[in-house]
Amino acid sequence: MAILGTGAMARYLAYHLDAIHPWIIGRVSPPYQIMELGRSHQVVQPAYWGWDTLPPHPPDIVLLAVKWRGLSTAQRWIAQHAPQSVVISFMNGMGQEEILHELPHVVLAMGITTTAITRQDDNIPTIRIVSRGSTVVPHVADARLDVLKTYGNQYHWGWQWVTPGRMQNLRWQKLVQNSIINPLTVLANCPNGELIRHPLWQLAQPLTDEASPVARAEGTAIPSDMLARVARLLEDTRDNWSSMAQDVHAGLPTEIDAINGYIVSHARRHHLLVPTHEALTVLVSKLGQG
Ligand SMILES: NC(=O)c1ccc[n+]([C@@H]2O[C@H](COP(=O)([O-])OP(=O)(O)OC[C@H]3O[C@@H](n4cnc5c(N)ncnc54)[C@H](OP(=O)(O)O)[C@@H]3O)[C@@H](O)[C@H]2O)c1
Repeated sequence: MAILGTGAMARYLAYHLDAIHPWIIGRVSPPYQIMELGRSHQVVQPAYWGWDTLPPHPPDIVLLAVKWRGLSTAQRWIAQHAPQSVVISFMNGMGQEEILHELPHVVLAMGITTTAITRQDDNIPTIRIVSRGSTVVPHVADARLDVLKTYGNQYHWGWQWVTPGRMQNLRWQKLVQNSIINPLTVLANCPNGELIRHPLWQLAQPLTDEASPVARAEGTAIPSDMLARVARLLEDTRDNWSSMAQDVHAGLPTEIDAINGYIVSHARRHHLLVPTHEALTVLVSKLGQG
């Protein structure tokens, strides 16, 4: 099994799945230090290859854990080294499947995780697990995934395997959640916990109201208590800077096109108006070159 990416999510997956010895592919080589409040710090050292190194054999399973700006590199790697693998994506936003469908023999499974992890690259590459959430993956009938299911039960990873319909609903919920938290924390320039007290929080309601009909037109439903859920998440991760805010601070392109931009492009398909999402997509794109 290969994890693509060596950032926060990739290191977390390498730690989480250490028992099944995944490889990690990317730019920052292990060891990685794992820090979590209330637990002793641990170090993981998965087998590592750079993007341009030939792995010893094609992996059966690829876990996709790059930012959107790295997706073309990951796609090339899969095309060269794992063209018949099962690819499970943990990337935020939606639309990866439309891009990865260009790889005709790959089996795609779009997962999500609500665990929050931050990355720190000082002396030793480190991650801090800010809050533990759940990891949900669609049930795909492919025997190569049995290793994940078996070891998951044995090591109590607690991954949930759900039907594709349920998965699509959870992905839309996460998309709407991200479409509120990410751009608003960028524009408010604040950590998650401060957003609820910031005047920009007033945009959370129109963002939800605009996205809900788009989700409905796509065949799924956003729960009526979405704003309360987002508020709880902001509180649980109160000291955390959102991933989009971190990208803007680092002068890097953001994932806005795959989050609010995805809602805008799908609203157009259904002739629906999403002016607040449109405005935020433009504003954040200007800030983060996204
Ligand atoms: N962190 C979380 O709590 C969390 C939670 C849920 C979902 N996610 C999602 O998981 C995905 C990965 O996020 P992350 O938090 O791991 O971000 P990250 O720490 O910034 O790591 C991003 C990874 O993408 C790679 N990358 C970026 N640009 C690239 C390029 N042009 N070519 C090749 N590789 C490139 C980075 O490589 P370098 O190291 O070389 O820069 C790194 O391996 C994102 O879609 C994010 O939204 C994250």
